[in-house]
Amino acid sequence: MIIAALKSNTDSDTRSPIHLDTVKTLIDLGAEVWFEEDVGKGINISNEIFEEIGLKNHTRESCLKNANLIITNQALEQHELEQMKSNSTILGMVSPFSNQDLIKSCSKLKINLVSMEFIPRITRAQKMDVLSSQANLAGYVAVIESAKYLSSALPMMMTAAGTLKPAKVFVIGVGVAGLQAIATAKRLGARVEAFDTRDVVEEQVNSLGAKFVKIDLGETGETDQGYAKELTEEQIKKQKELQAKVCERSDIVITTAQLFGRPAPLLIDNMTIDKMSPGSVIFDMAVESGGNVEGSEVDKIIERNGVKIIGISNLASKVSNHASLALSNNYNNWISDFYDKESSGINFNFEDEIIQSSVLVYEGKITNERFQ
Ligand code: NAI
Repeated sequence: MIIAALKSNTDSDTRSPIHLDTVKTLIDLGAEVWFEEDVGKGINISNEIFEEIGLKNHTRESCLKNANLIITNQALEQHELEQMKSNSTILGMVSPFSNQDLIKSCSKLKINLVSMEFIPRITRAQKMDVLSSQANLAGYVAVIESAKYLSSALPMMMTAAGTLKPAKVFVIGVGVAGLQAIATAKRLGARVEAFDTRDVVEEQVNSLGAKFVKIDLGETGETDQGYAKELTEEQIKKQKELQAKVCERSDIVITTAQLFGRPAPLLIDNMTIDKMSPGSVIFDMAVESGGNVEGSEVDKIIERNGVKIIGISNLASKVSNHASLALSNNYNNWISDFYDKESSGINFNFEDEIIQSSVLVYEGKITNERFQ
């Protein structure tokens, strides 16, 4: 089997789907591993270094034409799909909700499609969970970037020149990214408060030394996959009103609230922003899926009455080495678990919950009912 790793097709994403420290897993399977020239450029791994350990350097076109399994951090273009062999497989982060044409084309061209965003949230699959591995790093980056734009330091400092108060950070949405944002802000010495509609996270917030903000919204809860349930308009209105007081007293507000497969809820409006002190920072981590903050824009810093509203895409890519290490492990774990030595190919066993969930197209059929 030829496995080919493709380079990112955007400048804002410098992650690689393979990493020097993890690629041995694929070689040990007995697969021939190819890579698109310069795949490791963004993580400082040269073509020569990959070649030295037995990988083969090819053009993107050659990878597409010859590979049995393509690993990629982005969806492919229609003209690229047309170059691929039928019965070959694409595995990666393919943003299926915003790329539904890709699913249809794979079905038509008989290309199998594995979306790593659809790894089920079960213990056995945690090692393949790309959303968690990247959200964790994104949470860290959000704090570091916010700190950069704040004109105060985060920790308390008692100096001969006076006592400097610690910064106050408010994290809205305590999933994987939110938890890491809390942990990072705490490590930097900030005073941290956090809120989530899933009250099960209160204990996790407290265990990180942060304070859980209690806002009674009535019935909220989570889905069987651990995702938040969508709130009613009335509940969102109440949440906005009550959390505005916390925003007002915060130096940094980091919003991470997401709803799987749906636009993110708008949680901070201009009325709230106008109550915040000039110089404070709002970091909208949901900016790519619609945004939690009124006026936030992808890859822009907007200023409103002195409050900076930051929206940055591909946050994990800012720590591309670690992001690539984690991503490549996620991909390798999927491939290893379903690699069939006898046929030297993937065993698409639809009895397995991970296959059922992550494979969107198999042998020309759209197998995931969400996209049928
Ligand atoms: P996510 O990225 O879908 O959403 C981020 C956070 O926003 C969530 O905690 C969600 O509850 C919260 N949120 C949504 N609407 C909100 C609102 N109106 N106000 C405030 N917060 C709001 O979530 P993520 O990071 O994917 O994690 C969700 C849960 O799933 C977590 O508890 C996580 O630990 C769990 N999980 C379990 C896994 C497993 O068992 N294998 C793997 C990954 C996550």
